[in-house]
Amino acid sequence: MQNFIFHNPTKLYFGQGQLENLQTELQGYGDNILLVYGGGSIKRNGLYDQVIDILKKENKNVSELSGVEPNPRVTTARKGIEICKEEKIDFILAVGGGSTIDCTKAIAAGATSNDDIWDIVTKKTTTTDALPFGTVLTLAATGSEMNNGSVITNWETNEKHGWGSPYTFPAFSILDPVFTKTVPKDQTVYGMVDIMSHALEHYFHHEANTLLQDRMVEGILQTMVETAPKLLEDPENEEYRATVLYNGTMALNGMVNMGYHGDWATHNLEHAVSAVHDIPHGGGLAILFPNWMEYAIDENVSRFKQLAVRVFDVDPNGKSDKEVGLEGIAKLRAFWNSIDAPSRLADYDISEDTLEEMADKTVIARPEFGNFKNLNRDDAIAIYKASL
Ligand code: NZQ
Ligand code: ZN
Repeated sequence: MQNFIFHNPTKLYFGQGQLENLQTELQGYGDNILLVYGGGSIKRNGLYDQVIDILKKENKNVSELSGVEPNPRVTTARKGIEICKEEKIDFILAVGGGSTIDCTKAIAAGATSNDDIWDIVTKKTTTTDALPFGTVLTLAATGSEMNNGSVITNWETNEKHGWGSPYTFPAFSILDPVFTKTVPKDQTVYGMVDIMSHALEHYFHHEANTLLQDRMVEGILQTMVETAPKLLEDPENEEYRATVLYNGTMALNGMVNMGYHGDWATHNLEHAVSAVHDIPHGGGLAILFPNWMEYAIDENVSRFKQLAVRVFDVDPNGKSDKEVGLEGIAKLRAFWNSIDAPSRLADYDISEDTLEEMADKTVIARPEFGNFKNLNRDDAIAIYKASL
């Protein structure tokens, strides 16, 4: 375990009825609010009306940015930045999933800067400030509600990049499992795959003495394996929704990965697929992760064996470590198949035609990537080919 500093300033309100705390939170900020949301799910399920009522009670001047896309676009962030500058916005409220929150982070940083937000996302320039913002989360997946990361897509250049800054942690996030009950089955599945993928990205590292961290990450994976089928069987069940929601936050708020860095190559590979084909993030991960694992297993077979035995109950007796590890990967693949996650790039009509283009995108920011197994462009092509 390496030395580390842990600091996460996001105040979390978790559980049923927690939206009532929005009113008190808003009292800490100025009157001009930008409300950011997606394509309309919050209007259909009534959350929009509840939030507007609270904003009215506090006599806030509300501007709105609606229509934030899944895989949010830099053009939409620019619109939000313009509103912030014109309306002298004091505080941004994001109501939605990871895309709405990620877009809000870009708006918050861009609003206090003279640089174009794409230069901030691509790290040509650094952020020194951001407007304060809070979130009301409606989809369990990304962890964006309690981290400082944001992933933004540029359709002019077909690039999708993650970035973050010390200024882009939400001031508060309100998580009520009831708000996630209307998430349709496919998005629920993508969210659960994303949560498990964050745990898996953490798990593959070469750091020694991470005994507690290993158990915490395995705990997330085991809880998801146990809960995902129950939730899909009973999607209105608030206890299952709450369990998955809490897992999503814990998988990417820095709590389980203190003192080491995970791999994150699969996320880079997936962002490149989404940048070319605009597919759901969790869907792409379900396809790529088992193939990355098979490609990377020889890097440290014992990590794969530990995962197989502890999370997927593989019996190691009479088998080589590699056989055990491969059986664990097969079980992960079978589990994701059992919850109807996609398993091949062909499921999104992606063929050999764009493999080179996607591989180019994986190495735009740096020529090699992946902390556990170092990959280059050729490795990306090999993993994409295995995923066809
Ligand atoms: O846009 P609306 O109408 O709200 O509909 C959304 C959208 O169509 C819908 N939805 C959300 N909450 C709902 C709901 N529908 C019914 N009821 C509700 N309660 O779900 C669809 C997907 O929403 P989106 O926000 O795109 O999903 P998600 O939370 O999975 O976010 C995905 C984005 O986050 C990035 C991904 O790359 C992708 O761009 N990531 C962000 C990370 C971070 N900031 O830390 C880390 C992740 O690894 C990930 O890369
Ligand atoms: Zn992810």
